Amino acid sequence: MKAKSIEAYEASERVSSYDAEMEIMHPNRAKMVEVALEILPFDANERLTAVDLGVGTGYSTQRFLDSFPASTVYAIDGSEEMIEIARERLKAYEGSVEYRLGDFKALDSLTADLSDVDVVFSSYALHHLDRGEKETTMRDALTLLRDGGWFINADIIVAETDEVEERIQVLRAQGVVARAAGLDERFRDVASTRQFLTAMEAVEGDMPLTLREDLAALDGAGFRDVATWWQEYREAVTAGRK
Ligand SMILES: C[S@@+](CC[C@H](N)C(=O)[O-])C[C@H]1O[C@@H](n2cnc3c(N)ncnc32)[C@H](O)[C@@H]1O
Repeated sequence: MKAKSIEAYEASERVSSYDAEMEIMHPNRAKMVEVALEILPFDANERLTAVDLGVGTGYSTQRFLDSFPASTVYAIDGSEEMIEIARERLKAYEGSVEYRLGDFKALDSLTADLSDVDVVFSSYALHHLDRGEKETTMRDALTLLRDGGWFINADIIVAETDEVEERIQVLRAQGVVARAAGLDERFRDVASTRQFLTAMEAVEGDMPLTLREDLAALDGAGFRDVATWWQEYREAVTAGRK
């Protein structure tokens, strides 16, 4: 059965407005990807092999190839529709990106022909996995990596307590309302925004973990040097090395 989180990204209205909505809903994406790239201790001209888990419309893969243009990215996503937009965005890097359509819960079979990968990265995608699935995917990523290779995840998290989560959700909705600037009826005020976001997250099957749980999943999968490199409210960049 296809994952809810993939089906949600096959819907034409979600796909066509995805990047514009990311600017309103997740303006930290640019900063998070910048941090993820800064972590990597490689020269710009190295021929790296990387895997993007949940390439979506190709934003992070594009930024990766802008930083490491001699590299190859294996770009995985379950949604053909999202991959189509990535293909368009990444036209200039044709030949440097190989798309793989499938569920990253089966990362081992999707990448059975790959090994000694330098980097596995993901942005805003792994919160679609529960704790057990996430650790399995991270373990598969560890198997893919060469010794010293990096796993980097820029994603959403949930707070440790309901009180903190409630405050963060209010701040989040206020930010969305301000950025939408009255131009989007869904984001007219904090109440309508929260209602919309809650419904969207249910459709997409979001299940973010706490930061502590994300770090524990990295530890449990067998990564070393597990650390948080950046966090603001409900978004974090975490990483580990093989
Ligand atoms: C929120 S988008 C993130 C896209 C991109 N990485 C970004 O930062 O904008 C999540 C992407 O993950 C994909 N996805 C969700 N669950 C998946 C799964 N189990 N296997 C493969 N792709 C999945 C969706 O199709 C979607 O393209």
